[in-house]
Amino acid sequence: MLNTEFALQKHLDYCVAQATKTLAQLPDNALIPRNIPPDENKWKLVDYEDWTSGFWPGVLWQLYEYTNDDAWKSKAEEYSNLLIPLSARPALDHDLGFQIYNSIGHGHRLTKSPAYKAILLKTANSLAGLFNPKVGTILSWPIMVEKMNWPHNTIIDNMINLELLFWANHNGGPKEWYDIALRHAETTMNNHFREDHTTYHVVVYDPLTGKKIKGLTHQGYADGSLWARGQAWAIYGFTMVYRETADPRFLDFVQKITDVYLERLPKDRIPYWDFDVPNILEEPRDASAAAVTASALLELSAYVPDPEKAAYYRDQAEQMIRVLSTEAFQSRDQNAAFLLHSTGHYPNGSEIDYAIIYADYYYLEALLRLYKLQNKQANIDSVLAEG
Ligand code: GLY
Repeated sequence: MLNTEFALQKHLDYCVAQATKTLAQLPDNALIPRNIPPDENKWKLVDYEDWTSGFWPGVLWQLYEYTNDDAWKSKAEEYSNLLIPLSARPALDHDLGFQIYNSIGHGHRLTKSPAYKAILLKTANSLAGLFNPKVGTILSWPIMVEKMNWPHNTIIDNMINLELLFWANHNGGPKEWYDIALRHAETTMNNHFREDHTTYHVVVYDPLTGKKIKGLTHQGYADGSLWARGQAWAIYGFTMVYRETADPRFLDFVQKITDVYLERLPKDRIPYWDFDVPNILEEPRDASAAAVTASALLELSAYVPDPEKAAYYRDQAEQMIRVLSTEAFQSRDQNAAFLLHSTGHYPNGSEIDYAIIYADYYYLEALLRLYKLQNKQANIDSVLAEG
């Protein structure tokens, strides 16, 4: 295992410094940072309805956790509070989980605020309303039912949002929410993956019979291609589902989908935006996929019983974090984000080679997870040394 302890603190402090620059740049207009185009240095802002609205408050909560400085807490509260209206209406799509759990979920974890708990429970209830029991999954994009003629559609990204339902069940919500999350994960495991364990982005189902109609892409290169962030969401999501269910089927499965991703990565461990795009060496990267995967692998490495395999996952995660922390990927003086070189929606021509807020969120989460793992190891080592 790499000794990254010194560099880790340096990179966490870098995140603090960059976020400080962002705060200085933000107007007092209730808008939230989403992305920075290449060669620009100002955040493009969105309102609380955007699917990415939870990540900036989530960054602020994580900085509060790292620094224990109330100034970060107060900014985290300010930005989290902007999202509260989302919990007071029916879910428009699955992104409600990304929005509320990655912001107010951290807020509750760190403050135990009863108001935040009530918001999370209300939001879980709305999200559960998108579940179709005939299919066994959440309808991810209601808007695409008519727009694309996808009568019941589920996207792999939706795996992340099951965490809100598991959390809500453990915190006073009905058992039904656990069952929905479990069934969604099982149905996705059975229908979303090809024989080589790579994922489709979207699966379309018949909402009346529950039968799978087709697998396809929306943000990837082709229906049959491996969209990098899709596989990253799958690795992160199934790792979390194993944590929540302790069901060995998920531990076995997540290793298969992880292994195919790791085997196909370029040498520096940062994927191009899609693994199957022609002339791949000329294509943009997706640092966000690397950040999501690095964070997931740190968690997965703690669950895998085979010590060699566990060390392999931990080492891969550390390599990803180390490369993301180099001059090639950190924004440094170019802009106030943490990371450059993420790709949002290539086929749509949007956010190609941008700094994007969710890359920063998962990069910070990965740094903090590694920091906690190293501190835990340091504590164990000092107990052992004391004999
Ligand atoms: N969940 C949307 C994306 O990954 O771009």
